[in-house]
Amino acid sequence: MSATTPALSLRDASITLGSATIWQSVSADVRRGEFVGVLGPNGAGKSTLLRAILGLLPLSQGSITVLGERPRNARQRIGYLPQRRVFNADARVRGSDIIRLGLDGARWGFPLPFAGSRRGAVARRVAEVIELVDADSYAERSIGELSGGEQQRLLIAQALVRRPELLLLDEPLDALDLPNQANVAVLVQRICRAENVAVLLVAHDVNPLLGYLDQVIYLAGGRAAQGSVSDVITGPTLSALYGVPIEVLRTSDERLVVVGQPEAPAHHHDRHAG
Ligand SMILES: Nc1ncnc2c1ncn2[C@@H]1O[C@H](COP(=O)(O)OP(=O)(O)O)[C@@H](O)[C@H]1O
Ligand SMILES: [Mg+2]
Repeated sequence: MSATTPALSLRDASITLGSATIWQSVSADVRRGEFVGVLGPNGAGKSTLLRAILGLLPLSQGSITVLGERPRNARQRIGYLPQRRVFNADARVRGSDIIRLGLDGARWGFPLPFAGSRRGAVARRVAEVIELVDADSYAERSIGELSGGEQQRLLIAQALVRRPELLLLDEPLDALDLPNQANVAVLVQRICRAENVAVLLVAHDVNPLLGYLDQVIYLAGGRAAQGSVSDVITGPTLSALYGVPIEVLRTSDERLVVVGQPEAPAHHHDRHAG
């Protein structure tokens, strides 16, 4: 497995669920160690993209290669944080135990992706990811007592503990206040560099991520565009995706405001199905 093998390669890929084509003709490339934002309105198929990368959903057309393999074969080398997890205020499990759950696969006979005696190696790696997400001061507290931002950091640590080569984070900024969104964006960029892991981070607003992303994949109207933020978040590119006129305004504090997005996503129903 060469270090230059792409983390992800999609060619003319389409996904159909029931009679709805969620997206089609999507091509995308992610290199190792790249920080990519997966953006687009609710219902655009962002979570669906992550499920396809995990090999949980088949493509209806096109091809997908993950870390040089078919998605299912690469799954052990992917860290995944699913969308919106909340812990009850009375959840008593400690943060560090949540992180150890990320090692569960090891119980089923997968080799641990780090050397040394098992118990020592686990303890060292758990301590390492706690430090990586700056959770030292609260990792031994009950998860239910922690703030949303603290919980999110521990869940990111859980997704990282097996040293994934590709990290999929579904809306990790959701439900965080603005300062915490910025903190998590900084953190994920730091992880991306420190662990040389490619990251796909799903978000519906690009602003907290501006300045950190290497690229964006923007899904809308059943299609995708990929490139730098300044190439993709533009009136012409987004108008073409949405199929309606979109304007992108830059505020005096450099935030991007997308104007004219339809409320509901355009869906392409396949007339030939059913
Ligand atoms: N099993 C399914 N059958 C049909 N449609 C589905 C199914 N699962 C999800 N969808 C639809 O696929 C679209 C994309 O969903 P999703 O990937 O969750 O979007 P996003 O994460 O961008 O908000 C939505 O319109 C959703 O209703
Ligand atoms: Mg989603």
